[in-house]
Amino acid sequence: MSTAGLAPRTSARRTRVTLPPHLDGGLPFLGHALEFNRNPIRFVQRARGQHGDIFAITLAGQKVAVLTGPKGNEAFFRAPDDQLSAKEAYRFTVPLFGKDIAYATTPERMSEQLDLITPALSERRLRTYVDYIREEVENYASRWGDEGTIDLVQLGNELTVFIATRCLIGHEFRQNLSTEFAHLYHDMEGGLNLIGFLWPHLPLPAFRRRDRARTRMVEIISGIVANRRAAGVEGEDFLQTLMTARYGDGTALNDDNITGMLLTLIFAGQHTSAVLASWTGVELLRHPEYLHKVLDERERIFGGGRPLSFDGLNEMTLLGWAIKETERLHPPLILLMRKIRRDLHFRNYVVPAGWLAMVSPAASHRIAEVFREPNRFDPYRFAPRREEDKRTRFALITFGGGRHACIGMTFAYLQVKTIWSVLLGQFDFELVDADPRPNFDTFVVGPKPPCRVRYRRKKQAFSANGKGSA
Ligand code: HEM
Repeated sequence: MSTAGLAPRTSARRTRVTLPPHLDGGLPFLGHALEFNRNPIRFVQRARGQHGDIFAITLAGQKVAVLTGPKGNEAFFRAPDDQLSAKEAYRFTVPLFGKDIAYATTPERMSEQLDLITPALSERRLRTYVDYIREEVENYASRWGDEGTIDLVQLGNELTVFIATRCLIGHEFRQNLSTEFAHLYHDMEGGLNLIGFLWPHLPLPAFRRRDRARTRMVEIISGIVANRRAAGVEGEDFLQTLMTARYGDGTALNDDNITGMLLTLIFAGQHTSAVLASWTGVELLRHPEYLHKVLDERERIFGGGRPLSFDGLNEMTLLGWAIKETERLHPPLILLMRKIRRDLHFRNYVVPAGWLAMVSPAASHRIAEVFREPNRFDPYRFAPRREEDKRTRFALITFGGGRHACIGMTFAYLQVKTIWSVLLGQFDFELVDADPRPNFDTFVVGPKPPCRVRYRRKKQAFSANGKGSA
């Protein structure tokens, strides 16, 4: 174990502070970047095996302290913003989300902005979103034949874009602007890359396209806001919540801010929900014995023609555990980062200001002392009496924790539950590509395409709105 001494903090009592052990291997300057990039999860697991809950690595000249396990996660999530800064880690989002929004503002202001969203995530609204999501899934699947092949990555991605535009920006946008949005979304995403992480305003074509797409989004959303106000109509969506929201001092959000907030939520929630939906399909189809139990549960709850609803979905306990087990095995965000602004003390180590701190949901979720047989798909680990995620704090961290914990978790579960409740009611599925691997080419890690499944329409399918179809 290699440790390096730092200068003593006081001359009165010569305390020796120690940097976390530095992982062996690595190249000059690049450090561990190549091995890390190839398979970040295996890399963190290897290093943890060597050093335990904390170790240091070098990524292209940048020192990074990696914290794993419940205690390491806790130290990361509990640290205040002036010590571990999310704002500095996510500053590449500023040109897209806007200069007064989210990571561009102070952490206090950002938290105030996220509080403005609360009414859009109320139970009353979630009940309405279930109907929107069900409609989206039914429309999507109505274009399929009686049998054929689809790709689960594409399915997750397309459905969650439709759902996000419908529930967040509203029906006017969803009905009239989905095709244009696909192009704008593509251009905005293209501006979120590694170069943008370092120099977000370089005069590059990708950044010009990003900025043009954002300007167009503000134009479109301003138009919808103006029309709604002129006609006196209200939508049941996040846009409406933001239009009526007021800060503590009574100020409203302008159209640029409203657009920035919507983009923040879409970029935080769409890809993440998409890959959770795809992975859930993969895991259910890989485990037919468990899938049969989920199908029985579905039949018991909705089989008699009861319409799909928020309450019915809440009764889908086995499906809920399957989703949780899927997020444990395949957390969409495999790594989370902070910039260290004040020295971080953990056990006997000090991580100095200027370094990055990182936790890995993916590696933490596969620790045998926390989750029994961690590589096994076993949804019953979340059943009463076992509840392995509750025995230790900060064990399951798919949705983060502490002051920056995800605000969209319930909405994400609702999407994935509705998608699979509708699809499993109408079709039988079978995996074509039996063992999809994680795709580390993208920031949010889904199954690597192709991830095809064969579907066959059931003979007597009950539509999830309660109507039977031959
Ligand atoms: C499966 C889907 C999702 C996953 C896995 C996920 C995961 C996460 C994680 C890990 C964080 C913490 C990031 C950090 O600490 O650096 C986070 C934060 C956040 N998420 Fe999600 N998320 C999901 C869906 C959503 C949805 C649907 C929305 C919005 C509708 C959303 C909005 C946010 C926001 C605004 C934050 C920032 C919170 C803050 O910094 O205070 N997420 N999410």
